[in-house]
Amino acid sequence: MMTKEYITKLKHNGNGDIANLVKTQRDAGSINYILENLGQLPSNFQSDFLYKLLDHPHAQVRLNAVKNIGKLKENSDVNALLELYNRETDTGVRREIVSAIGRQRKSTNKSLLYKFLSDTDPKIICQAIRGLLVFENDKDVEEHLRPLVNHENEMVRTVIYKEYFAKEKKQKSNLPHIETYEFLKNVVVNADVLEALKYVPNESVHLTFTSPPYYNARDYSIYPSYQAYLDFLDKVFQETHRITKEGRFLIVNTSPIIIPRVSRSHSSKRYGIPFDLHPYLVKNGWEFIDDIIWLKPEASVKNRIGGFMQHRKPLGYKPNSVTEYLMVYRKSTEKLLDWNMRSYDPKIVEDSKVADGYETTNVWRIDPCFDKVHSAIFPVELCKRVIQYYSYKGDLVFDPFGGSGTVGRTAKALERLFFLTEQEPKYFEYMQSKQKYQSIFKERTTRFLTLEQFKEIAK
Ligand SMILES: C[S@@+](CC[C@H](N)C(=O)[O-])C[C@H]1O[C@@H](n2cnc3c(N)ncnc32)[C@H](O)[C@@H]1O
Repeated sequence: MMTKEYITKLKHNGNGDIANLVKTQRDAGSINYILENLGQLPSNFQSDFLYKLLDHPHAQVRLNAVKNIGKLKENSDVNALLELYNRETDTGVRREIVSAIGRQRKSTNKSLLYKFLSDTDPKIICQAIRGLLVFENDKDVEEHLRPLVNHENEMVRTVIYKEYFAKEKKQKSNLPHIETYEFLKNVVVNADVLEALKYVPNESVHLTFTSPPYYNARDYSIYPSYQAYLDFLDKVFQETHRITKEGRFLIVNTSPIIIPRVSRSHSSKRYGIPFDLHPYLVKNGWEFIDDIIWLKPEASVKNRIGGFMQHRKPLGYKPNSVTEYLMVYRKSTEKLLDWNMRSYDPKIVEDSKVADGYETTNVWRIDPCFDKVHSAIFPVELCKRVIQYYSYKGDLVFDPFGGSGTVGRTAKALERLFFLTEQEPKYFEYMQSKQKYQSIFKERTTRFLTLEQFKEIAK
């Protein structure tokens, strides 16, 4: 019976017992079992059989042989690995060869690793980069790696950017990560968001949750063309990126919309806003994280299926749209989320922990909210979840398209701070009227400001 203990015992005998054991195996599965259970190899390990296995017809056997040759370090024959790399067709084995050579951390392997940088497989290039990055402060390595910041593959570019360029470019904010500016705390500005943001410093908000205008589907904002609308959102989210703290989140609620037909002889037009907006966000440094689906009850949405129910003719199928997207992005950074979390006092972390009953999937079933003044307001439950899952207590939550102010009120109720902009005076006033009935006893009152007043306090 071949057990792990048996393999370990033979391995330490140092007289070729493992090689003999491998020789007697009929099937690739058993050879792999031995190779996968070899663990660390002793200095007297007889390794010739491993090189013979580089010609084995089974790719997994070759891969395991390469892995073990990689463990031999000083005694390994890198040329044998290189020869295999040159003739190998299996992607996994090729990657393992580069990884094994990299793991040896031998400076004599550097020229080989440079060679792998021009492979067509991005994973091989990344493995080679990994192998080279162990040679810290090595000018020669740096000269080979830096140009890869323009590599066609995004993973390669990201790794190189993080290593060599991120630190150079970073504009340091004047504030600690968890803090923000006094003049932005619980403020609503009645202005075009792009005007207001001119007075907001870099890296001042922790979370943005917003629902932009639905192109020309509602009456509150009209754009001359769909392209003009996308260009406008592009600018807003570029600016939002600038004012967002490192590694923090942007959540955009949108959905495809329909613009009704001009006359019976034309068709209505559908615009895929979330899909069209996405490339702009990514281009501007927002890293895509998640797509959350907001699912509404069918009875609450416009009926589109009625015609089809009558005629049942293929091609004329128009399902009722019961979903909207919450597109989740993070401001690209080389720092891990853990860095963001560690910036907070343990007490804030403890107090901000999400209670039981949180949503475990990316489909959130929430009833929409209807309002007599504003035609597209967030349900409080939707805001609650986003704010609780993506911010800590005391954080500043921003909504560039404030509407009736749901984000502000919910942020306040959850002990966060808020900063909103809303261009339409009627919604700005509506927000103020709603505020009257709320939070009288909360220590920080909301300031409703004109652009001029905001400019003044921003000085
Ligand atoms: C979809 S609604 C947001 C509703 C909001 N989420 C709520 O819960 O009430 C979009 C809002 O953006 C506002 N808006 C449109 N263009 C704007 C701009 N350039 N600057 C600031 N607000 C703008 C509109 O007036 C509208 O109230």
